Amino acid sequence: MNDPRLNHLLEFVGIPSVSAQSCHAGDMDRCASWLFQLLKTQGLDARIEKTPGHPVVLARSPRDASKRTILIYGHYDVQPAEPLDQWTSPPFEPEIRDGRVFGRGATDNKGQILAHILGVGEALAANALPVNVVFLIEGEEEVGSPHLAAFLESHREELACDAIAISDTGMAADGHPTLSYALRGIAAMEVRVTGPARDLHSGIYGGAVANPATAAARLIASLHDPDGRVAIPGFYNDVQPMEDWEREAAAASPLKDSDIAAQAGVHELAGEAGYSAVERIGARPTAEVNGLGSGYQGEGTKTVLPAEAFFKLTFRLVANQKPSDILAKARRHLEARCPRGVRLEITEGHSGEAFFLDPRSPDGLAAQAALEEVFGKKPALTREGGSIPILTDLQRILGHPALLLALASPDCRAHAPDENFPVANFLAGIRLNRVLMKNLASISVS
Ligand code: BES
Ligand code: MN
Repeated sequence: MNDPRLNHLLEFVGIPSVSAQSCHAGDMDRCASWLFQLLKTQGLDARIEKTPGHPVVLARSPRDASKRTILIYGHYDVQPAEPLDQWTSPPFEPEIRDGRVFGRGATDNKGQILAHILGVGEALAANALPVNVVFLIEGEEEVGSPHLAAFLESHREELACDAIAISDTGMAADGHPTLSYALRGIAAMEVRVTGPARDLHSGIYGGAVANPATAAARLIASLHDPDGRVAIPGFYNDVQPMEDWEREAAAASPLKDSDIAAQAGVHELAGEAGYSAVERIGARPTAEVNGLGSGYQGEGTKTVLPAEAFFKLTFRLVANQKPSDILAKARRHLEARCPRGVRLEITEGHSGEAFFLDPRSPDGLAAQAALEEVFGKKPALTREGGSIPILTDLQRILGHPALLLALASPDCRAHAPDENFPVANFLAGIRLNRVLMKNLASISVS
């Protein structure tokens, strides 16, 4: 493959910009510098901005006061690549196989943001960029964007814009244009369950001393009722129910429950009674265990009564649920059920509210028109299960909801081994940027 555009993507994915792992701090800076250079070669005025965490990369096209300004947000950080032994090719040595670029970050979010950068670069080279563009590319999305809201507040004026576009979500089916009009929010928590002062012989003490692993298992089990509903009191109080048109859009989605089962590699789906899988993922809140540990994990038997156990939880939230309220309710629920003989240490993590954009708004319609023009089909309107924590801050501080134009393939394996981005989606993304900028240039300011 000698397409220079693909070479840019391979280089970008080759930088292990894992925001969560401190051993990659140097790679984060290296990735920001790489982006800065690339943005400059595309004709943009770029800057690396320090934050208390990983740097933000800003870039803008030559400003023309008579044109609308579109802000394009993305992230250059990626999730940890573990478990490494499950990758077909190493995560940071990207490879093209079967028309897909494989590597950590290929889809989430390097391929998608790069498509927009190259689209703008092409337009600038042809002297045909119909809008002003500002790129805001952060390095902490995958750890909950802890410093970006403050950055937005302090750069509010230079980030002023007329619309916001983001490609960081999934297409309903390969080749099927998709506007993601809602994303779930998130609230994270970690629970440490402590018991005896040190690991004990499970024969000498077992039966008389509470086992933290058993206590953790009981607490985790208490989070759901047998119908798959979250059993935390008040958890559903503020949930915005789906409207009829949304249930119709979900039923019409090209993504079927059977596709979801096949992609996930499960023999059957499970979840809250009364909803399809598409609805459960997009429109219903959840409680998930993301990590769980205690006791001996090595070879053979070890008769130990572990001194502690831990579990990591995230709640996915839908419109109107407040992360702080959900975390407080979860804390009360766990503390009230703490088994005798152990103690809980609960730490709250990052959070972000759910996002909702009316796809019938003028910007929403312009985005759909661009998607239809590029892909030749009416776009699917989807509610997505994932989260982009900064979305509601972008809307509050910059005054516009984000247009989420999906480019990820349903089988992109984001966050998992063998993450990949189809070359076709990358090239379509470049075209989409061109058409979107044209369509957003002319609509009335919202
Ligand atoms: N691109 C995803 C968000 C996403 C994934 C939206 C799939 C829609 C469908 C984003 O990079 C992401 O993974 N976000 C994290 C946020 C978290 C770490 C705070 C997520 O959703 O887990
Ligand atoms: Mn992600």
